[in-house]
Amino acid sequence: MNKQSFCIANWKMNKDYNESKEFLNQINKKDLSVSNSNIIICPSFISLSLASNKNRNISFGSQNVSSGTSKSQTGEISVEMLESVFCDWVIIGHSERRNILNETNEDISKKMELVYNSKLKPILCIGESLEEKNNNQTENVLVNQIKSSFSRIDFSKDKDILIAYEPIWAIGTGIAAEINIIDENMKLIKKIINNISTNNCNIYLLYGGSVNEYNASEIFNLSEINGFLIGGASLEVDSLYSIYKQI
Ligand code: 13P
Repeated sequence: MNKQSFCIANWKMNKDYNESKEFLNQINKKDLSVSNSNIIICPSFISLSLASNKNRNISFGSQNVSSGTSKSQTGEISVEMLESVFCDWVIIGHSERRNILNETNEDISKKMELVYNSKLKPILCIGESLEEKNNNQTENVLVNQIKSSFSRIDFSKDKDILIAYEPIWAIGTGIAAEINIIDENMKLIKKIINNISTNNCNIYLLYGGSVNEYNASEIFNLSEINGFLIGGASLEVDSLYSIYKQI
């Protein structure tokens, strides 16, 4: 496969510091020259300090960033703090943050702006709920999420931007969305983006939602897919490595 690809581990609230360190030791023992895919590990904030430029084949992402710049925000982490620990990427707008932590489109657009204007690169998550899908609202939801996330960005500079389509109804279920639904919605997302002037930004589309070593190859073969945002299957070295080798 010659297309650019991203194999991204979203560990969510899994793995303490020692477990994260052990995982990195183990994956660094694997042959990371067998694929051109970019491995991006997104651990918890405390384990993000394990990120270093020594892991040449692995880059690191944060699972979140503050939407504000004021220092008076107890418990928050700024763009500058992430930049100081060899973090290159930030997941923004994951459905768990939108739904459990009440993150709004407004918060997400502020985070996108801050990250766009920094050295970091965004991994924007979008996707509809089961109810929205059943009410034929998928297109509306995706248009709104994309337009509002990009609303504060002026696209004046080059940047890699990853958009992960994660249908909420497929996350953590063990059953990925049907291949034709993924294909249809990736094409829809491509169409929405093509109507926005993103200048020289490289926008790559990912799929997330019960990706594993058995379904990765088929999904990756879809024309608009450049990789995966992986939850459960990213927690074991062997399953993440297997997906990485296939893309
Ligand atoms: P699962 O791969 O466990 O379904 O999680 C997907 C996800 O939420 C990645 O961000």
